[in-house]
Amino acid sequence: MEKVDVVWHQQAVTLADRERLNDHQGCVVWFTGLSGCGKSTVANLVDRALFEKSVRSYLLDGDNVRHGLNQSPEMLTEQHGEEFARRFGVGFGPQDREENIRRIGALAQLFRDAGMITLAAFVSPYRKDRDLVRSLLETDGEKQDFIEVFVDTPLEICEQRDPKGLYKKARAGGIKGFTGIDAPYEAPLNPELVLQGELPAEQLASSVVEYLSKVGKIK
Ligand code: ADX
Repeated sequence: MEKVDVVWHQQAVTLADRERLNDHQGCVVWFTGLSGCGKSTVANLVDRALFEKSVRSYLLDGDNVRHGLNQSPEMLTEQHGEEFARRFGVGFGPQDREENIRRIGALAQLFRDAGMITLAAFVSPYRKDRDLVRSLLETDGEKQDFIEVFVDTPLEICEQRDPKGLYKKARAGGIKGFTGIDAPYEAPLNPELVLQGELPAEQLASSVVEYLSKVGKIK
């Protein structure tokens, strides 16, 4: 295996400097749950509410990140060729999701380091993948910089909503390994927040903002 030499450089502007400037803390709010559970909707409402309060926040959203950083092999083939696409493209198998979440975890850590309230909305069905991101962000064990939000919406409701028609397609055999249908979803064991996905999204978003204020991330 090729060995590469890289050395970590301490940067001149620290997270504490940025937090003083912003007058709020940086952290990662990680929304997890089935496709159609309401993650993106609630995360967008939280983003908007924080924006109105002059808090620096940004939403990393599953479908959008898969349009750029984590493109599929198919999307990469035309510009980069098949071998490249096979090596770096991300699909929905267990290892693909592991790599999807690993990259996003590293990205979310950078956003946190930049002082942002970083909202992340990904199905992220595997506990070990989410726990890896948690471990990246909780290195000093004191600051709670990974806030796991389980959007707990029953599969039947997600399937009824089916905003993208993907459950229908999966049931008809058109998508293999669809979370909740023929691929697992491992619910968090100790999430910081559980949202009942049947409730109105505005109410759920308010409880996230209240939580951020309660734990001192925002004023
Ligand atoms: S994750 O499992 O790797 O975290 P991610 O959040 O990036 O998934 O993307 C999930 C979105 O991709 C879903 O909301 C859905 O629209 C779409 N999707 C396509 N195929 C699948 C699949 N096999 N399982 C789950 N979602 C899928």
